[in-house]
Amino acid sequence: MSRSYKIAVIPGDGTGPEVVAEALKVLRAAGSQYGFSLETTEYDLGGERFKRTGETLPDDVLDELRGYKAILLGAIGHPDVAPGILEKGILLKARFALDQYVNLRPVKLYPGVTTPLREKGPEDIDFVVVRENTEGLYGGMGGFQYKGTPNEVATQILCATRHGVERCLRYAFDLARRRPRKTLTLCGKTNVLTFAFDLWWRAFNEVGDADYPDVKREYAHVDATTMWMVKNPEWFDVIVTDNMFGDIITDLGAMIQGGMGIAAGGNINPGGVSMFEPIGGSAPKYTGKAVINPLAAVCAGAMMIDHLGERAAAAAIETAVMSVTATKLKSLDAGKMGYSTDQVGDLVVDALK
Ligand code: IPM
Ligand code: MN
Repeated sequence: MSRSYKIAVIPGDGTGPEVVAEALKVLRAAGSQYGFSLETTEYDLGGERFKRTGETLPDDVLDELRGYKAILLGAIGHPDVAPGILEKGILLKARFALDQYVNLRPVKLYPGVTTPLREKGPEDIDFVVVRENTEGLYGGMGGFQYKGTPNEVATQILCATRHGVERCLRYAFDLARRRPRKTLTLCGKTNVLTFAFDLWWRAFNEVGDADYPDVKREYAHVDATTMWMVKNPEWFDVIVTDNMFGDIITDLGAMIQGGMGIAAGGNINPGGVSMFEPIGGSAPKYTGKAVINPLAAVCAGAMMIDHLGERAAAAAIETAVMSVTATKLKSLDAGKMGYSTDQVGDLVVDALK
């Protein structure tokens, strides 16, 4: 009997729907080969809905989302909507309300893909960033005083809790343990942020000593991390870090793995509903032109089914994507692939066979 998964699909804005369509095409092909199916329900969330109704992510929709096995998201972001409204109202609201406390971002250079790091190849760039996803500077603590006056004060508080930090660390240790090199690097700023990263540092060592003696621990300040990611990316296996630092270093990670055409991420609640997305955004100028690269969405889909336990199918999709990057695409960039968006989806489906 075939396994079936209820999936909420949020195609979203701009090129989101185009890339999600290709991801679903590939997932369904993998499903028929590996004996599972996806029962998808589309949700119309994003800039167009906001313009029409003023809604971002209404609470009743959020409650419905709790009923799915996972969520596949295309992109959120609309040129006519002020920055922050959709990001906070949809993406961050979902992350927080669904307690998706890990943002998981593989940084892997696939064969045939051009990296700006001149001397580095696929054997050098293969690590995963585990970004804390529900607190830190993103928690929303702080505010204004005397706003709009010469005495104005604005605070934005970095809140780290032992609970939030420890569960993120445990996720990262578990992941590091499953990888051949079993190495976990804490990326922080213990020399300046001496409260928050003191907590991170102590939790890192306590949890590591108590429960993960087999995982090798390393530490790098965030500024040094950006330097090593460019100079010696092969040093990294799993990096665990705070929300804001993770946001910044994963964009750098996306660039060294070939750009937004390939970078995927997951917002993970190991005991709840997780949400997977290509991290590139809605790319409004390419909308409807069939030039956007769907591989990031395809990879997000592979992460999703891996998370659902369809490990073999997820690995097969990754292998298929690698054969497409190695032997077919001229570039990963929009309009330069040598194929249209849907043709790239077809190439992955063919490579799966
Ligand atoms: C990301 C994005 C989001 C973030 C924005 C869109 C709110 O940059 O997923 O990294 O800052 O987390
Ligand atoms: Mn970001």
